[in-house]
Amino acid sequence: MDFDVTADWHVASPYDFLRRLRHERPVFHSEHLGAYVLTRYADVRAAYGDPRRFSSAGSLTISRSLTEETRARLGEHGSFLSSFVANVDPPDHTRLRRSVSKAFTPRAVAAMERLFRELNEEAVDRVAGQRQADFVAQIGHEPSIKLTARFIGVPEADETFVQTHVKDWFQLFLSPQPAARQLELADSFLEYLDYVDRLVADRRKEPRDDFTSLMAGAEGLSHREVVELISTILLGGNDTVPNQLGNTVLRLLREGAWPVPAEKRQNCVEECMRIDGASLGSFRYATTDISLHGVTIPAGALVLLSTDSAAHDETVFTDPERFVIDRPNADAHLVFGYGIHFCVGAALARLQLRTALEVLGRRLPYLRLVDGEPIAYRKSIVGRGLQALRVAW
Ligand code: HEM
Repeated sequence: MDFDVTADWHVASPYDFLRRLRHERPVFHSEHLGAYVLTRYADVRAAYGDPRRFSSAGSLTISRSLTEETRARLGEHGSFLSSFVANVDPPDHTRLRRSVSKAFTPRAVAAMERLFRELNEEAVDRVAGQRQADFVAQIGHEPSIKLTARFIGVPEADETFVQTHVKDWFQLFLSPQPAARQLELADSFLEYLDYVDRLVADRRKEPRDDFTSLMAGAEGLSHREVVELISTILLGGNDTVPNQLGNTVLRLLREGAWPVPAEKRQNCVEECMRIDGASLGSFRYATTDISLHGVTIPAGALVLLSTDSAAHDETVFTDPERFVIDRPNADAHLVFGYGIHFCVGAALARLQLRTALEVLGRRLPYLRLVDGEPIAYRKSIVGRGLQALRVAW
């Protein structure tokens, strides 16, 4: 048996397979992924904590299925974000991370709470007259997308453009696509990079109070580094948080745990991330031969650190397939990564998830799943997000 990105279970229910790997083949060579996969919590954490042997350089270039023609079309951008902060090692990483962190101070994050609450109220206002909605398309995604756009400084008139292009980008690099579709998506990606390029140039000339201006004015960052940073933060903010929110709402409705009382919200967010994480893991390259549990990972090999498996490791989380809203160590999950690349947006993501549960729980206390609707996830190598979620109230 092997992973299979084209099969539904890869995202929907990989846990029996992952358990077997943890027990029997903790260093598993996946032909399908072209990577060694680490599944035990301790190994995943140790690898994140050892950037010298597990390098991030080029690790985000994970779409192995791009055709020659698509690669030619992408040209110099085919390397996919070679200077993005998550894709480089120290010392470049240290320099980039220092600049990025400046924008994510606790104060700056807290300042976004009011806007995010308003955006959620507006999303509910729009559907309140109906009896049913698709949570993903009509409620869950928009507030995060708008928040990220405002934070970055994307003008409101361009939000739809950015949203469509980010979706295309995600498809091109993170899920297998037929050849003809790849070319369409590559064109869309190039158009998007061009847009961000102009945005950065504009803000350099006339700074405003936004993240793009802050980065454009930061010392020691090249133009390309800023463009890659902005375009990827838009990606991070537009997709991961809404995906996690959709997974969370589905879990809570299935468990009969909706709405979540205020005092349980913080831990509930962690337990939902642990059990249904929006990120399945991170890729690294072995810089040297690495021997682990009797297997040698050869220098240069691609390695997947499966945080999805780590979050279900029974040696750390008792009865891991069970949802326990007040699980004492829920926040020990590694869904935000660990070590020097630990998600720089984690506090912002947590704030959004808590705030959404608060507003949606208050406005839609009788939320329930619509019977008989199939639950389908988007196909992806390292992300978990629902295609749709029919809810009624
Ligand atoms: C639930 C939502 C989120 C999840 C599950 C998530 C997950 C992750 C993970 C696993 C990493 C580590 C990657 C690695 O080590 O290779 C990461 C890094 C990162 N995340 Fe997030 N993320 C989320 C939300 C966000 C948000 C909202 C932002 C920004 C607005 C963001 C920006 C970043 C950046 C810039 C990095 C790179 C940090 C570095 O390399 O030093 N993320 N994220």
